Amino acid sequence: MILCSNPKAQYLEYKDEIDSAIQEVLSKGQLILGENVFAFEQEFSEYIGSKYSIGVGNGTDALFLAMRAMEFGPGDEVIAPSHTATATIASIAMTGATPVLTDVDPVHHTLDPTSISKAITPNTKGVIAVHMYGQPADMDKILDICHQNGLKLIEDCAQAPGAMYKNRRVGNIGDVGCFSFYPTKNLGALGDGGAVVTSDTYLAEKIRKLRQYGWDEKRVSQFTGLNSRLDELQAAVLRVKLKYLEKGNARRIALAKKYKEELNHLPIESVPQRPKCSHVYHLYVIEVKDRDSLVSHLKSCGIIVGIHYPVPVHLMPAYLTKQISRLKNTEFISRRVLSLPIYPELSELNQSQIISNLKIFFQP
Ligand SMILES: Cc1ncc(COP(=O)(O)O)c(C=O)c1O
Repeated sequence: MILCSNPKAQYLEYKDEIDSAIQEVLSKGQLILGENVFAFEQEFSEYIGSKYSIGVGNGTDALFLAMRAMEFGPGDEVIAPSHTATATIASIAMTGATPVLTDVDPVHHTLDPTSISKAITPNTKGVIAVHMYGQPADMDKILDICHQNGLKLIEDCAQAPGAMYKNRRVGNIGDVGCFSFYPTKNLGALGDGGAVVTSDTYLAEKIRKLRQYGWDEKRVSQFTGLNSRLDELQAAVLRVKLKYLEKGNARRIALAKKYKEELNHLPIESVPQRPKCSHVYHLYVIEVKDRDSLVSHLKSCGIIVGIHYPVPVHLMPAYLTKQISRLKNTEFISRRVLSLPIYPELSELNQSQIISNLKIFFQP
């Protein structure tokens, strides 16, 4: 069986280092907000190129805490693409603000800048740009729109740790960058985890307090917060995995290159790479017409694929709102996208099997 993602294989790859990092935490006994969290925060912000990084409970909380720190709340509107993980939109709703869901560009599947302009109202407070599948959104245009309209820009980097937009790492372009360390992500913990990065001292301090009940140094809540801390065990694991993130991303890029070359002549469209950017291939997404039959064929060959995402968020009952018009590209894409297995531990043999079975399916 070839899985669509395989965090266990990655654990086994670095087992000795991970096991000893975990043992060290257990023997020292400090399990919450200790040396590993602080060291990881330092190492991660250096890697991204931002001044600060704050470890939190998961990627959804990272987005929520960033928006809470910016004081988004009831009556405010936040623009985000409908073609994203539900988590992106759930985090807006958690603040009490209204998610305003917009379309993506049909080629790269990232937030379409023209759809942002159309969605702005006097209540708009911010925009969430999602770096889908591992590649940066159209950041120059999105930044311009945000600057011109006085909007905060939040980067959802859950799928793209390490990706570059014109020599800057994602997360270091907008006001804040939000990361998920869900186990299958390019930088995955062995459980939940997340981080917010920023170079804004005020926001960093506020998020640091918000992740722990809004406490100040004397453990007095200056505002209401929550409990959303990255724990020591996850931070220790992430410190090991961060050392290998570049190597893992390079392997993903090599696998993507091979898919692209080999699938070139089939009736499949691979989502292309944006010029002057790097793509870290959290997902290798293709578009196909007869998706259901292809998924069944691959399954019968022992190959499990993913669909990111089959139901656009604006069509989910929880987020149906009157003002949302049809999002043509998003709805079209949702019927066609399919994610092929891609992760650093995917063997060449397994990738060849996936490619051969795709070729068999499309044989005339
Ligand atoms: C684009 C995107 N945003 C946010 C999240 C939320 O991350 P988490 O599952 O850690 O809350 C995810 C992960 O599923 C994601 O893919």
